[in-house]
Amino acid sequence: MAKNREICTTNKVDYLSIRKAMTSGARTVDELAELTGVCTECEGCKNELDNILSSVCGCKKVSLEAVVNAVKSGADTVEKVGEITGAGTGVDQETGEECGKCKGLIQNIIDLGR
Ligand code: FES
Ligand code: FES
Repeated sequence: MAKNREICTTNKVDYLSIRKAMTSGARTVDELAELTGVCTECEGCKNELDNILSSVCGCKKVSLEAVVNAVKSGADTVEKVGEITGAGTGVDQETGEECGKCKGLIQNIIDLGR
């Protein structure tokens, strides 16, 4: 799992704020701009934002597309999404404990269907 760092340096929006906004339903750069204040002024950040938006589980490298597809094919709990895609089942390499940081986002994708 990536550590926190500043993404939009103009408006000082960090990675964790962006992940939090995604967990509240943001799926596009425009929605992120609304919820977090990312300025979207530079192309470099836009690429980075697209990358962040397209990924659900950093531990298992599972994309948003894969999770949405799993939900569309009937996975209606975080556990079922994990069984199909692996998302949410990562283990912290240092502590050996379950990561689970993306579970809130997985639940939100189930809730919204996108
Ligand atoms: S500094 Fe804000 S989007 Fe690049
Ligand atoms: S980000 Fe660690 S389990 Fe998904």
